[in-house]
Amino acid sequence: MKRDDPASWWQRDDLCYRDGHLVFAGRSVQTLADQFGTPAFVYSAARIRANLERLHEALSTASLAGGFSLYYAMKANRFAPLLTFLRQTGLCGIDACSPAEVEHAVSCGFSPADISLTATSLSQRDMDQLARYDGLFMDCDSLHAIRSWGTRKPGTRIGLRVNPGMGIGRAANDKLQYAGAATTKFGIYEEQFAEALAIAKAHDLRVAKIHFHTGCGYLTPQLEQLERIIGQCLRFVEAAGEVERVNIGGGLGVPHLAADQPLDLHRWAEVLRRQFAGRGLHVEIEPGDYIVKDAGILLVEKTYVEQKKEAWFVGVDAGFNIAPEPAHYNLPFQPVPLRDPDAPRMPVHVVGNINEALDVWYENALLPDLTGHTHLALINAGAYSSAMASHHCLRGHFKEFLLF
Ligand SMILES: Cc1ncc(COP(=O)(O)O)c(C=O)c1O
Repeated sequence: MKRDDPASWWQRDDLCYRDGHLVFAGRSVQTLADQFGTPAFVYSAARIRANLERLHEALSTASLAGGFSLYYAMKANRFAPLLTFLRQTGLCGIDACSPAEVEHAVSCGFSPADISLTATSLSQRDMDQLARYDGLFMDCDSLHAIRSWGTRKPGTRIGLRVNPGMGIGRAANDKLQYAGAATTKFGIYEEQFAEALAIAKAHDLRVAKIHFHTGCGYLTPQLEQLERIIGQCLRFVEAAGEVERVNIGGGLGVPHLAADQPLDLHRWAEVLRRQFAGRGLHVEIEPGDYIVKDAGILLVEKTYVEQKKEAWFVGVDAGFNIAPEPAHYNLPFQPVPLRDPDAPRMPVHVVGNINEALDVWYENALLPDLTGHTHLALINAGAYSSAMASHHCLRGHFKEFLLF
């Protein structure tokens, strides 16, 4: 296996070919597909744990005098067995973004004190529901949110989600940025920050945390931008006065293509060390992708192989509606054959079963002759897939399995 080989760069110890057959989490993927049926999302508990432990190790090298905490962004994947497993690792709390997410996290074993809430466009009804959870930590992303929370929870500590006017994203992908040149709904801008502090004070709320999440999918080439963003956000920390915590959001990416190098966590931790040195701040992160994306694969059945004009198409029994990232965000989920890794390959378009032009899983995937194959696996399907699924074309059906 070579990292720059477009057909096999994704292989690693727990996702690779053994004796010509694809193995994931110690199981034959063909056996899983035959047993479970398709479409099926299959997640590896061991890989999730390894991803969490790698983050903990990196954070512990960053010399963060105030300590650190990790919150899993459950919007990435809310499969209940997965959440309960995360709870049992004791390695993370939860980043939730709605009252229903809070309730679901609690139903999976997390206590409200383990949950940090960063939501947007909250209604008064949402606020009432959230206020019932004592210990839940609220990051307010607007003046409206500060006022609404303040009337319900005076005398408590809050975070302020800020918008530094700078964003980050995989390969400068604008669709993955939450802040930047364009004005977005996310967070309080510097121009309104003094007013935000005044509203908090008027409601007897203490601003204990500055929160920023400015984009998704960043890899090593984007670390300089991350450093600039943190530097910019420290201005908010200084302006707020008594801040104890900083939450730098999620956004840590995983490779989607042979050309992507895995995020260099050593360099990432160095950025945190440099930026937070001597400040005594407790540093929080809230990744979703990094923890679960490469711990999940989507098993699909081949429906047909056919040439149309100059192109070859491989149809499968699942469409973009159960894993929207490739279609909406240009984040390719590479299709991989379940056997014959060394067979000659040809470019084919892998397409789904939804009547929409954007229902293309992968253009020019290099695959062997699939005549004798029944299934394919799509990698990187562990995050923002099942969680974002819809019933478009009444084809939203899928199964999920967590393997130990
Ligand atoms: C506020 C907030 N925090 C964390 C995340 C998790 O991002 P990622 O999965 O890219 O790590 C998101 C994603 O949308 C978010 O909006």
